[in-house]
Amino acid sequence: MMHGALEDISKAVGDTPIVRLNKVAREVKSEIYVKCEYLNPGGSHKDRLAWNLLRRAEEAGLEPGGTIVEATSGNTGASLALLAAVRGYKCVFVMPDKMSQEKIAGLRAFGAKVVVCPTAVDADDPRSYYVVSRRIADETPNSFYANQYHNPANPEAHYLWSGPEIWKQTAGELDVFVAGMGTGGTLSGCGKFLKEKKPDIQIVGVDPVGSLYYDFVKTKRITKPFSYKVEGIGEDFFPTTMNLGILDDIVRVDDKECFTMTRALTREEGLFVGGSGGAAVAGAIKYARKLDRPRRILVFLADGGAKYVSKIFNDDWMRENGFLDDDPGAGTVADLLASRRRQAIVTAQPSSRVRDVIAKLKELGISQLPVVERGKLVGIVGEVDLLRYLVSGKKTLDSSIGELVEGDYATVTPNTKIELLQSVLADAKVAIVTQGEAVVGILTKIDLIDYLAKRNAPPSPPPPRKAPAAREKPRVPARPPKRAKRT
Ligand SMILES: Cc1ncc(COP(=O)(O)O)c(C=O)c1O
Repeated sequence: MMHGALEDISKAVGDTPIVRLNKVAREVKSEIYVKCEYLNPGGSHKDRLAWNLLRRAEEAGLEPGGTIVEATSGNTGASLALLAAVRGYKCVFVMPDKMSQEKIAGLRAFGAKVVVCPTAVDADDPRSYYVVSRRIADETPNSFYANQYHNPANPEAHYLWSGPEIWKQTAGELDVFVAGMGTGGTLSGCGKFLKEKKPDIQIVGVDPVGSLYYDFVKTKRITKPFSYKVEGIGEDFFPTTMNLGILDDIVRVDDKECFTMTRALTREEGLFVGGSGGAAVAGAIKYARKLDRPRRILVFLADGGAKYVSKIFNDDWMRENGFLDDDPGAGTVADLLASRRRQAIVTAQPSSRVRDVIAKLKELGISQLPVVERGKLVGIVGEVDLLRYLVSGKKTLDSSIGELVEGDYATVTPNTKIELLQSVLADAKVAIVTQGEAVVGILTKIDLIDYLAKRNAPPSPPPPRKAPAAREKPRVPARPPKRAKRT
């Protein structure tokens, strides 16, 4: 072996640099650093996962020549394909159709077979990529289902490797660790290790608007997920690899924030990262804004930008999706709220009585109310549920509504685009608008129709012409007003 050479490319995984952000986070006092996982040879942090998955599979008897099957949005596939090439395995990858062409072509470049499934189906639908991948693994002899969403080897990779690496590189001088929330491997594994070393370290997850995690952490309710564009983070089900208990805080970001920050990281910091990297930094800055004193924050940058040149780094795609400021599209939820006459948001508490909630619904002519406890959203209560419970005799008018509170809604933010709200409301009966923890609005289809109808209404006729200005005509001297004659 030549001096200084690695045995094979898999030995180049890890030891990724940590770099300070110098421009994009100027507005906050905390120091923000990024861990450049996108510099791994397979293009992301999933190289570490692939290494540990295969290590565990080989320990369990997997032999070279076998087939690795995985449901992957691309990065895990790239990492498994790389290791498979080095160690002599075949690969079949199943992925949702929202993934970029570059990602799919990248996997095929390694000789992997790629099966594409529809994104817009439930996770337990037979066409979903989770179900299809499981079926292929069951039907292929001598195969190994990597199962990154439920395989403990996923968080273990970060517990054994990324976590200790971060600790060593920083000499423990970090106060906050921030990462995007996908399978949870990164957060659960690094989080566990870092907390063992430094119990007061803050572990912060970043979740895209549309994913289930944020609402679940905040309200313990499973709300309606909806689709979004940023890839690799957010889920519409709960992987067992995600330990939500490790989180100290969770921050929500929308697609536009993610992609604007992704472009800024590349243009201003020279960090050519993917959308989830932009999401993580945008989330870290939001978190840092709330802090009462400056902290050292380390953000995990999962993958690189090359796979997204036709999307995030393409002005046409950004414009078509309303992510560029020069195209306001149909506006945002904030515009809709501003256009409504009724501004004050009416809420109930879990302790409110059924009788009072019905009276409120009747008085306002609405069918559901957000339920808030100590300023935080805990769910909604709707007339249909109140009625059902009253009819069943389980509740009386004097019962509290606590048990009737449900999670059958989606949450959006004031920045959510109207186009997205439209698809959210196609599925969810109501969308609750939250800003931070506060509820700032509740929207149904009729609000959206109203807003769009007003926008599309023909311009109102011009006002009647004013009397000619005084300059054009000599002014008639004002006479004192006539008094009514008193009789
Ligand atoms: C681009 C990207 N970012 C972030 C993540 C999230 O990482 P984890 O699955 O460890 O939570 C993933 C995972 O698929 C990803 O592909």
